[in-house]
Amino acid sequence: MGEDRLHVVFGTGQVGSALTAHLAGQGIAVRAVSRNRPPALAGGCDWRAADASDPETAADAAKGASVIYQCLNAPYTQWPERFPPLQRGVLAAAEHTGALLVVLENLYGYGPTGGKPMTEDLPLAATTVKGRTRAAMTAELLAAAEAGRVRIAIGRASDFFGAGVTQGSALGERVFGNALAGRRADFIGNPDLPHTYSYVPDIAAGLATLGTDARAAGQVWHLPGPPAVTTRALLDLVAGEVGHPVGIRSVPKLALRPLGLVNPVLRELAETYYQFDQPFILDTSKYETAFGTAGTPLPAAVAATVAWYRTRPDTP
Ligand SMILES: NC(=O)c1ccc[n+]([C@@H]2O[C@H](COP(=O)([O-])OP(=O)(O)OC[C@H]3O[C@@H](n4cnc5c(N)ncnc54)[C@H](OP(=O)(O)O)[C@@H]3O)[C@@H](O)[C@H]2O)c1
Repeated sequence: MGEDRLHVVFGTGQVGSALTAHLAGQGIAVRAVSRNRPPALAGGCDWRAADASDPETAADAAKGASVIYQCLNAPYTQWPERFPPLQRGVLAAAEHTGALLVVLENLYGYGPTGGKPMTEDLPLAATTVKGRTRAAMTAELLAAAEAGRVRIAIGRASDFFGAGVTQGSALGERVFGNALAGRRADFIGNPDLPHTYSYVPDIAAGLATLGTDARAAGQVWHLPGPPAVTTRALLDLVAGEVGHPVGIRSVPKLALRPLGLVNPVLRELAETYYQFDQPFILDTSKYETAFGTAGTPLPAAVAATVAWYRTRPDTP
């Protein structure tokens, strides 16, 4: 798929760094953008320091781009104030350069579906603060595209896991790190309901497809990933990899409010509880029909994630 045009990835975090490496591996010239230099960058990639919330700075950092990816994130406790300006900066950069803008979103914008699988045609009916923020950010993108100011493709993924994913995910340190250390996995909600967990390398590959296949532009796509299983079934796979049973310490909804008094992230998680007390299933068939089956089998994804956690110096 090699091409000589420049792809600019805003965000060098959990997904941004995987996407940068994936694009570079495809022979694409890549520039990553964030405020702080990431600890590691895929070989041959350029990196630029910029505050994306400043539109002029963002446009300058994206100079020469044919495709721009929005993989930024704002502090979880400050989405309404901090997240929209970040995306506006990147949107301005795409308008300025004429680049295709590929945006990574989560699923908060849909709101509760009563367990019905999420398809791309669902209305954005979020009932939570962070969900309404995300839905408003999507509306800004769609309005800009409709007005002919920018070309966009939106990719959505569920709670993710993978090598390098430690914080900010239901399946990070407190599941994989705890499991390897012989502690119970922390989990919020009902572990016996089916839940789609996305795998970061699949998200990166999916975003790269949106950036390189002309059929993706102008549409929303649910990114591929392993099939939905119950969280307990996923933890059984983790147990198989770590070599001992993994218990679950499930935090009930009623406990979140008092715990949230001392832990601001738990306070924020309370409003997302609905995602874990009803089935939470992402329908990725639109992507698979268009671009082919692409999700990593769950056992392989869990094995690779546990293998990465084992390489960390502080892992017992
Ligand atoms: N967590 C999940 O399970 C999940 C699931 C699906 C989708 N998502 C979505 O995926 C997206 C990316 O999440 P992530 O976890 O990969 O993010 P992350 O690891 O938190 O990384 C965020 C990146 O944004 C950069 N950034 C923040 N403020 C910036 C600014 N003002 N200017 C330039 N760069 C800035 C950060 O670098 P600096 O701080 O150095 O600037 C960092 O590289 C988010 O939209 C998230 O909602 C998350």
